[in-house]
Amino acid sequence: MDKTRAMITGIQGYVPDYVLTNKELETLVETNDEWILSRTGIRERRILKGEDQGTSVMGIEAVKGLLEKTNTKAEDIDLIICATVTPDLPFPATANIIADKVGAKNSFSFDLAAACSGFLFALNTGAQYIESGMHKKVIIVGADKMSSIVDYTDRTTCILFGDGAGAVLLEPTTEDMGIMDSILKSDGSGEPFLHMKAGGSRRPATHDTVEKREHFAYQEGATVFKFAVTNMADVSAEVMERNGLKGDDVAWLVPHQANKRIIDATANRMGIGPEKVMMNIERYGNTTAATIPLCLWEYEKQLKKGDNLILAAFGGGFTWGATYVKWAYNPK
Ligand code: UT7
Repeated sequence: MDKTRAMITGIQGYVPDYVLTNKELETLVETNDEWILSRTGIRERRILKGEDQGTSVMGIEAVKGLLEKTNTKAEDIDLIICATVTPDLPFPATANIIADKVGAKNSFSFDLAAACSGFLFALNTGAQYIESGMHKKVIIVGADKMSSIVDYTDRTTCILFGDGAGAVLLEPTTEDMGIMDSILKSDGSGEPFLHMKAGGSRRPATHDTVEKREHFAYQEGATVFKFAVTNMADVSAEVMERNGLKGDDVAWLVPHQANKRIIDATANRMGIGPEKVMMNIERYGNTTAATIPLCLWEYEKQLKKGDNLILAAFGGGFTWGATYVKWAYNPK
């Protein structure tokens, strides 16, 4: 019997309207457009403004658009997984809120936290439910409101992050395409270099934690940079090699958008020219779990059935991975 794989049959993104430019950041911290652009590749990022606006607001928009675009009824969805490190609330899961608001009343749903690798981890988790035959329609959301955990007095982190969401629909296929192979990794010893110090069960919120500004993302950038360059390139090269793919066989590299210099180094190592690298970091910055689906969404019209894609990510945890996807449809 032919093997059942999970294929992506639709993609939709959502970014909020407000544009936070490098120029505006110059008014908040001691930085400048030239430094930010040359060190990161970022010009601007989107910010979700307004009271009581959580990550789900963006996830809901992405999923609603995805359902409409793929002609899918909300009640036919079996499962929604939301990758995020900025859930609306510690509980219930943001995925549950999204499922409720889009009318996916027959689905079960849960969140998955793997920081910048969240979308890849969730994509592979969702694919297992399809491959096993348990489910037919699974939605994977990558969504983060990073502005809710960014310290806008810390110039080393506030320039990097933005808000956004992306969602894909996974369905089964017996054609030899879809999610083909993956290497996923994590290493908890990376915690000191990228984490949030308080707000969890180890250090619940107190006046002290707020005064010490411990409810924001903390990063030792240069250390994370080194790990990201090495590890993202290693797993990408490994997944290509074990699937017999050379640089020329890969139509697109879809990298996590943390820093243009990390992306360039990864592409270089894989023998992939810049014309085959999806990139929107300039306009959105690092949207954590949303970077990869936002890239796929913006490049969707250029993707053809049978294209070989390598999705690659590195993030807090540390977590990292690479997934080989054979794209399953032509532009509609
Ligand atoms: O997505 C999750 C994973 N995260 C990542 O992959 C991020 C990885 N790290 C990075 O992308 C980079 O390390 C950063 C963009 C965060 C920083 O770039 P860098 O080239 O590693 O700079 P650095 O931290 O080594 O700092 C170099 C200099 C320092 O000044 P001194 O000590 O040399 O005088 C910083 O204080 O740049 C200074 N600096 C800034 N200057 C102007 C740091 N931030 C800024 C700023 N504007 N915003």
